[in-house]
Amino acid sequence: MSWSADDREGQGAASVCQSQSKLALPLAPGGVLWMTGLSGAGKSTLAQRLKAQLAADRCLAIVLDGDILRSGLNADLGFSSEERLENIRRTAEVAALFRDSGFVVVCALISPEAAHRQLARSIVRERYFEVHIDSSVAVCESRDPKGLYARARRGELREFTGISAPYEPPSSPDIAIDTAHSSVDDAAERLHAFVRNRIRPLTVEA
Ligand SMILES: Nc1ncnc2c1ncn2[C@@H]1O[C@H](COP(=O)(O)OP(=O)(O)OP(=O)(O)O)[C@@H](O)[C@H]1O
Ligand SMILES: [Mg+2]
Repeated sequence: MSWSADDREGQGAASVCQSQSKLALPLAPGGVLWMTGLSGAGKSTLAQRLKAQLAADRCLAIVLDGDILRSGLNADLGFSSEERLENIRRTAEVAALFRDSGFVVVCALISPEAAHRQLARSIVRERYFEVHIDSSVAVCESRDPKGLYARARRGELREFTGISAPYEPPSSPDIAIDTAHSSVDDAAERLHAFVRNRIRPLTVEA
C-alpha cells in the first residue's frame, strides 16, 4: 500500500483511509460536515450518498442522523429550542470524538437556529464545515417524504420547522447545495468534491 500525500502537514489535511489488509492509523484528524436544512431538504439522502462515495474511496466515514439519534441517544428530547440545542450538543460531542479518530463525520440535523449551529461549531472547534442543504419550504412540502408537512398543516405537529417554528438560514456556510434545482446525483457529487478538496482524505494508490 502507498499513500499519496502532498504537503499535508501545512494544510492540516486528514488521512482517514484504510488499506485492504490492515487499518492504517490516522495521520491527521478527519473532519465534521454539519448539514443544516429544512425537513425534506435532502440531508439524510445526501449524507448516505456521501458515505457510500467515501466508502468507495476507502475512507472512514460515519453519518450521525438526527432521526436515528432521536430513537436512542436523544430519545428523551423534544423539539423546543432548548431541547434541540441539547440534541445538537450531544451530537457535536460525539462528532468530535469520531473526528479525532480520523473519521469524516456527516451530521444531518435540521439545526434550525444560528445559535444551535454556533454551539456545534464551538464544541467541534477544528475542522468543522457548515453545509447548507438548501431548499424552500414549498419544495420540501411538495416532497414531504415522511408526511410531516401534512401533519404539521393539520396542526398535529407543534414546533415544526418552516411551518410553526423558525428556520434561520446560515449566512456564510462553507458550502450551500441547492437541492431544489439539482438532482441527487449532482448534489452528491458536489459534496463529494468538497470533501476531497477541503478535508482531503488520502487515496490509496494501486
Ligand atoms: N438534489 C437533491 N438532493 C437531495 N434530495 C433530493 C434532491 N432532489 C430531490 N430529493 C428528494 O428529497 C427528499 C429528501 O428527503 P430526506 O429524508 O433526505 O430529507 P431530510 O433533509 O433528511 O429531512 P428530515 O430533516 O425530515 O430528516 C428525498 O425524497 C430525495 O429523493
Ligand atoms: Mg433526515
